[in-house]
Amino acid sequence: MDMDKLVALCRRRGFLFQSSEIYGGLNGFWDYGPLGVELKRNIKDAWWRDMVSGHNELVKPAGAPTTYEMVGLDAAIIMHPQVWKCSGHFDLFCDMMVDCKVCKGRWRADHLQSAECPQKPSKRPGEFEKCQLTEPREFNLMFKTIVGAMGGEEDAAFLRPETAQGIFVNFKNVCDSTRVKIPFGIAQVGKSFRNEITPRNFTFRSREFEQMEIEFFCHPTSSRKWYEYWRDRRMKWYTDLGLAGERLRLREHDKDELSHYSVGTADIEYAFPFLAAGEYGELEGIAHRGDFDLRSHMEGKLVKNAEGCLEVEMMEGPDGKKMPKHRGSGRDLTYRDETSNERFTPHVIEPSAGADRGTLAFLCEAYHEDQAPDDKGNMQTRTVMKFHPRIAPVKAAVFPLVKKDGMPEAAKEIYIALKRRFVTFYDEKGAVGRRYRRQDEAGTPFCITVDGQTLQDGTVTIRDRDSLEQWRVKSADVVEEVTKRVEV
Ligand code: GAP
Repeated sequence: MDMDKLVALCRRRGFLFQSSEIYGGLNGFWDYGPLGVELKRNIKDAWWRDMVSGHNELVKPAGAPTTYEMVGLDAAIIMHPQVWKCSGHFDLFCDMMVDCKVCKGRWRADHLQSAECPQKPSKRPGEFEKCQLTEPREFNLMFKTIVGAMGGEEDAAFLRPETAQGIFVNFKNVCDSTRVKIPFGIAQVGKSFRNEITPRNFTFRSREFEQMEIEFFCHPTSSRKWYEYWRDRRMKWYTDLGLAGERLRLREHDKDELSHYSVGTADIEYAFPFLAAGEYGELEGIAHRGDFDLRSHMEGKLVKNAEGCLEVEMMEGPDGKKMPKHRGSGRDLTYRDETSNERFTPHVIEPSAGADRGTLAFLCEAYHEDQAPDDKGNMQTRTVMKFHPRIAPVKAAVFPLVKKDGMPEAAKEIYIALKRRFVTFYDEKGAVGRRYRRQDEAGTPFCITVDGQTLQDGTVTIRDRDSLEQWRVKSADVVEEVTKRVEV
């Protein structure tokens, strides 16, 4: 698939625009247009419904060790700065960057193919003979801001680089305010911000993006089983929504890639068309995080000691005595099992997905060019976005064949009935073949046409976007017919 064609379609049809485009754009920021906002919302809604609101805590899902509960959360984007000190982001959330002293360009050190400035080939010959890259330097990816009108450096805060920490710091609040019992998960969808050194590949690496994260709390003895359950459950979610081909894969991290506290991490990856052959980009990570996060927020920032165990990182205080480098909240974030009376720090499984990367993968997967007959029956190349009906931005379009003989009135009646249930589009302009083409590009699964026969027998045609099959149903049955096919 040609990525340039997809990018052009996204702009032309209103899926995605460059942010602040009229001012030349801002690198790493994107706006979702009328079709894009519906697509991304459908993906987030499908995730929320399948993971949270539609989860039935009375029934054990296939592959799950036991039944479990799921609840939601919406935490603030700006949190107490100590959160990021204890989570490790303040000290460790850095990329190594290098600058070119000649062209003033800046790159992530791990993205450079050689010790040369990548701009070199695109400039005039000889211009970069004295080209020099600086030594790699650390660059913290968190966006800094100042809280309050009188604020100085001591009032500095950060835009969250992940939604996860909002869940950890509310663990006790959720336990105390609901009746959830371990095992249970807390889910959150929201914006995260990372000052990426080289945002690129359309929305794949952005500076502002949305995450869909679950922190699943369980007993340490069952955490490996829960990790395996979430890894497989999340993979199935993407395949069920249409990322079913070879471009999607699940990759378990090698033992030496794992964090010291983790028994397993897997990435769900997609072979995006902008990557080299054989390369995959991460859509979601499923990580076993042990008790690292809750302990860090209780005790202070943890590091691994010589024996490989986690302990609070210490530093020399003003009086020469050792003190914690970053103090925790001091709150008790352990959990007491009411039946066994056992008190323990829960282990955490974290399925962490990117809503924008998911949206981009569904856009790439949906893009097809095939042959379809035009108004005169001649075969023409059409561009069609084959979205799964659940995530398609517009579910149905209604057309009167011509703008006379009562057809617009009959079509509008069907449109009004459908619109109560779904995002529906009404179009009476131009040749009907052209109207079908526009809906194919938008990925609308069903087009309903009111024609001469409608006025005689009350039936309309429904056209399937992918098979191009057309069949007739009674006008009164259209809503039921479309509902049956969209809510699969
Ligand atoms: N709490 C764990 C965490 O944030 P991560 O692998 O850094 O883990 C999770 O991020 C997901 O967020 C990624 O798999 C990706 O889908 C998305 N993501 C991360 N950085 C991104 C960026 N700069 N632009 C778009 N999506 C991003």
